[in-house]
Amino acid sequence: MRKNGGRTTKDGIRIYQQADYAGMHVAGKLAARILDDIAAHVFVGQTTGEIDRVITQMVDDAGAKSATIGYKGYQHASCISVNHVVCHGIPGDKKLKDGDILNIDVTVIVDGWFGDTSRMFVAGKLPRKAERLIQVTYDALMKGIEAVKPGNTFGDIGHAIQVYAESQRMSVVRDFCGHGLGEVFHAPPNVLHYGRPGTGATLEEGMFFTIEPMINLGRPETKILADDWTAVTRDKSLTAQFEHSVAVTADGVEIFTLSPAGRFHPTYG
Ligand code: MF3
Ligand code: CO
Ligand code: CO
Repeated sequence: MRKNGGRTTKDGIRIYQQADYAGMHVAGKLAARILDDIAAHVFVGQTTGEIDRVITQMVDDAGAKSATIGYKGYQHASCISVNHVVCHGIPGDKKLKDGDILNIDVTVIVDGWFGDTSRMFVAGKLPRKAERLIQVTYDALMKGIEAVKPGNTFGDIGHAIQVYAESQRMSVVRDFCGHGLGEVFHAPPNVLHYGRPGTGATLEEGMFFTIEPMINLGRPETKILADDWTAVTRDKSLTAQFEHSVAVTADGVEIFTLSPAGRFHPTYG
């Protein structure tokens, strides 16, 4: 028996209890607040390494822990993925250039609960094509979230994202997915960002997971660079990602990683 008496479905998905939502809210809110505050540190000439250093400090100042430092040998408090980097970009010495778009992904642990969120930023002036990609990716995430309610399936979430992205002539990355989280970082199920309605596990109140679609302007294929982390689009096309940590509630969805400053959407900054 788990310490809080929660159960696990036949698909291995943990069902959390009412009291667990509060812990997730605190963790999710901190991760989102860090992304709100990091916006001031994204500008032309800035390095992604310096952005990560500031994030590390923010996590520390909050009395929280980074979930990514030490995770499978990863050494940073964030992943920062610039332009054609799909995800898991490693912060480093490279300076941001005018018009670069970047995803910053932060996961914190507060009192044992994981908050995982990412969103898009721009250095300098946002190019027109990038703006459209970012908008479509944001809308795709929100359409996925709208499909979250008891009785729907994980396939319904993926389908909503895929249909929308492809209707805008963009492609959905297949090689990475969202994941269950809660008192662990990555738990079942794999939350695919494509799929068929009615397939996959059925959503139940008490399920906690991320939705984090990666959308490409070009083809969906990715490859991993020699550093064993950085995933890029094979065709070097521009890519974007947004991630929220969410819960299934009795009648719908609750988002743990809403921006306290209302800055999640790229044009609200
Ligand atoms: N935060 C990422 C996710 O959304 C995982 C990063 S793992 C790391 O699941 F080691 F690359 F940081
Ligand atoms: Co995640
Ligand atoms: Co993440």
